[in-house]
Amino acid sequence: MKKFIILLVTSILCIQCNTKGETPQVDKTHGLIAEKAMVVSAREEASKIGVEIMKQGGNAFDAMIATDLALLVSYPVAGNIGGGGFMVFRMKDGTTGSLDFREKAPLAATKNMYLDADGTVNSDASKIGALAVGIPGTIAGLFEVHQKLGSLPFEKLIEPAIQLALNGVVVTEKQAQNLNDHTDDFRAANKRTILLDKVWKKGDTIKYLKLAETLKRIKANGRDEFYKGETANIIVDQVQELGGIITKEDLASYVAVWRDPITFMYKGHKIISMPPPSSGGICLSQILKSIEPYDVKQYAHNSTKYIQVIAEAERRAYADRSYFLGDPDFVNIPTDSLMSENYLSKRMSDFNWEKATQSNALFRGSIPGYESDETTHYSIVDPFGNSVAVTTTLNAAYGSKVYVEEGGFFLNNEMDDFSAKPGEPNMYGLVGAEANAIAPQKRMLSSMSPTIIEKDGQLKMVVGSPGGSTIITSVMQNILNVLDFDMSMQESVSKPRFHHQWLPDNIKFETSFDTIVFNSLHKLGYEIDQSNSPVIGKVDAILVLPDGKLEGGADPRGDDSAAGF
Ligand code: DON
Repeated sequence: MKKFIILLVTSILCIQCNTKGETPQVDKTHGLIAEKAMVVSAREEASKIGVEIMKQGGNAFDAMIATDLALLVSYPVAGNIGGGGFMVFRMKDGTTGSLDFREKAPLAATKNMYLDADGTVNSDASKIGALAVGIPGTIAGLFEVHQKLGSLPFEKLIEPAIQLALNGVVVTEKQAQNLNDHTDDFRAANKRTILLDKVWKKGDTIKYLKLAETLKRIKANGRDEFYKGETANIIVDQVQELGGIITKEDLASYVAVWRDPITFMYKGHKIISMPPPSSGGICLSQILKSIEPYDVKQYAHNSTKYIQVIAEAERRAYADRSYFLGDPDFVNIPTDSLMSENYLSKRMSDFNWEKATQSNALFRGSIPGYESDETTHYSIVDPFGNSVAVTTTLNAAYGSKVYVEEGGFFLNNEMDDFSAKPGEPNMYGLVGAEANAIAPQKRMLSSMSPTIIEKDGQLKMVVGSPGGSTIITSVMQNILNVLDFDMSMQESVSKPRFHHQWLPDNIKFETSFDTIVFNSLHKLGYEIDQSNSPVIGKVDAILVLPDGKLEGGADPRGDDSAAGF
């Protein structure tokens, strides 16, 4: 059924392509238009709750907290308090910043913790079960945002999620399918969970009563409830019972970190995105700056040449990602060198239109020296002109699948985002090196790319996506769709996408590309992969229209929904 829906969506999208995979004319179908404020997220309930907070006078940061907690309840596959994420913001006066509430490795973590005695990677251990869990950062992040930028009382912002958990969430068709698909994993990782109570179908209501109690305790006791209080005890007891290594000290020492965002110019637009420990901002800048001189607008959208130049830029950026990027609190990242136009133009100098570069012959670039299956993204603009882009995750769908029964929530499996062994791919096929090796208290490298764009000092777009390693390239293609191809926000998020990440050396495509394009790419030496990636990213974005109104782009690949006023 899931495959059928994906095929249906993608074949509807393909109606817009001609036989060469080109888009003959820009179809100006629009998403929801609102006058002043908007939330676009993975669930209608969450978008509406965020908007309601802004109607009551709250700002984008208040709406962020309410939306995030509503996603925890209504979208448990990725919405979380047992995971972490990143937020990029832009204030109405143009001030920008970012918050890192990424998970960290436990104090007892070791570099080789996922290797067997003979040195081979035990890949299950970093993916499923309690040993896969990193120290969650979400609650620290939400309280940090509230303290610095919120305007309404936290109690008011958490209340809608409490009510949602008590009254229950109506399961959509996609959700029912997804829950049923994971029952074996839930069984493998847990003694029991309420999510195993039945075979789910569309229209069922799930009440999360334990989660409501957890949220009520957080409402009463604040941030420390999660990191030092009863909830901390519940987490540690459950994780340790299931063989994990998280301690109370791990939870008590977690802090979210404000970081300077990555900013760069692309064709007269200022792009503001997430710095390490996410690779998002740096890779996005490398890809966009590498293709800027080619002026991709001259090629038809999703045509062979368009795909070729982008895939070659992606290949080179992901090769650098693999070697250079990791937690900036642990490794020295040559950010300026990696983003310099000179470096990037040298990096692209061996790109040949006649023949694909081979990834096994391409390594990290040479820099002059060191200067000092689920995530969810939502975009918010408030009536005051502030904007927020947040991507948050448990890593895989339902994270480690460990469900904290007494607390009513899932725990992440973010430890798999580390490089367990140099050269060994993680669940997204990403290979890493020393920079992303496991160490106690270190943050694992991410691809999450919450991004805000401004033009001439004015807000233009808020964008982001889930999709593991494909997040960066999904965000990048939406930037091109809007800035270069002048698409509406809804049209942009609906367009078919492709992805290259250096290794494995192939281009992944959604199903609706034309075989003529595949054949011509194949002749040039590109491997085509459609096997495991019928869906690439799930982009939720907001575009500021020339008249100042807001247009939402809610990705039709999911149940995503825009709300606004
Ligand atoms: O941080 C990262 O890059 C990954 N943990 C994100 C995982 C993800 O997007 C899964 N979603 N589809």
